[in-house]
Amino acid sequence: MTHPAHDYAEQHIDRFLEDLKHLIRIPSISTQPKHAADVRRAAEWIGSEMEKIGFETVELIDMPEGRHPLVFGTWMGAGEDAPTVLIYCHYDVQPAELEDGWDSNPFEPTIRDNILYARGATDSKVNVITQLRAIESVLSTPEKSPVNIKFILEGEEESGSETINAFVAKHRDRLSADVSVVSDGPIITPHQPSMVIGLRGIIGMELHVEGPIQDLHSGHFGGNTHNPVQALTEILAQLHDENGTVTVPGFYDNVIDATPAEREAIAGADPYYEANWKSTSGAPAVWGEAGYTIQERAGIRPTLELNGIWGGYSGPGVKTVLPAKAGAKITCRLVPGQDPARIYEVIKAHVMDLAPETIKVSMEMQDMGAPAIRIPHDSKAVRVANKAYENHWDRESVLEVAGGSIPIASTFATVTDEIVIMGYSHKGGLAHGPNENTHLVMFDKGIGTAIDFLLMYAE
Ligand code: BES
Ligand code: MN
Repeated sequence: MTHPAHDYAEQHIDRFLEDLKHLIRIPSISTQPKHAADVRRAAEWIGSEMEKIGFETVELIDMPEGRHPLVFGTWMGAGEDAPTVLIYCHYDVQPAELEDGWDSNPFEPTIRDNILYARGATDSKVNVITQLRAIESVLSTPEKSPVNIKFILEGEEESGSETINAFVAKHRDRLSADVSVVSDGPIITPHQPSMVIGLRGIIGMELHVEGPIQDLHSGHFGGNTHNPVQALTEILAQLHDENGTVTVPGFYDNVIDATPAEREAIAGADPYYEANWKSTSGAPAVWGEAGYTIQERAGIRPTLELNGIWGGYSGPGVKTVLPAKAGAKITCRLVPGQDPARIYEVIKAHVMDLAPETIKVSMEMQDMGAPAIRIPHDSKAVRVANKAYENHWDRESVLEVAGGSIPIASTFATVTDEIVIMGYSHKGGLAHGPNENTHLVMFDKGIGTAIDFLLMYAE
């Protein structure tokens, strides 16, 4: 590892950390319209940095279908005979408020015990900076990069991916490359790298229940009018059985079960999943389908999750109201074989079947469907990625099927011959929650790994 790109990274590591802090301070929350200007500011900063480090073209791309810009840059200086690497990151983040339970301001990066706390620290600004500065380090050397580089970043990963979906649909050719490197998601612990060989898909929906035309006195109407909150919970309670299995007819119809070989391949990650479950969830006891490990329940099995529920009064004291309406947000994590649109349809049909005549029920699909993905782990890209991590962590990666979703990943898998997922945050990093964090022991290792991938993919 005496390549000059590594020396450059080592010399500039303090500045790289300042860049991470700078990007974190821009609250690029894609789902909240009031932060649209911040999302754009983050894109502009990334674009201008890409220009500074030598990308030949850099564009901010807006699509009529979307809300936030893509940043797209190319460096094709390695020549026609060299391979081309397409790197993907997202620069948007989930919402965060100090009151949610943060120990410090979510948009003011705060380091305690060599851990950096902030929204986006792990998901996914550390990945943005890692890739950006790895590319800078490689391009700074006299030989520059042995591979051509296309770098695309979206600002809507956490909220629908409309822009990137529309862009890929129209301009697939502009993304042509030998391999997609999807740089998002964590490794399993700060000290143990892992290789994601599968991700779950996702579909989101809302369920609305309406009863009386307005809120009523529960003394006058309680007992003769079906309470929408009660009706909603009666429906929701029937969506799982006592084993945690989803009861919606057709939900499991096309599921392609993980093979015994796949289950064996990922078993090496089980101890880490168990330890992480204990330390991160803090829940009283494990829950889920019998016959599956903790990793498998959140990786190879599909789920139906209630993400939020509303209706009636929840302020202080008593309010004897019979509410007019109630609702719930539902998402399903999907596995191979399950088509997002079809899953929505079977759930809708079942909910309509369960709905009594005493209330009105409606369902609404939310614009975030994506199928699951499996990544062959015998590809050149995965071999090179494994080796790159091993160079810096001094140990081989364990394989895992991760439970999260990266909606554009399944599309990239069809744009390029190979795909690999390379993340530089850690699983215990509390992504989406309060006190999200990244361990700074990983920061220089991550940049070193990303550099090595670019150098070694050319060989
Ligand atoms: N980085 C995550 C995806 C992820 C999580 C990959 C865990 C691997 C392991 C990503 O930013 C994310 O949170 N995606 C959303 C997508 C959704 C909002 C459409 C998710 O999975 O909930
Ligand atoms: Mn996320």
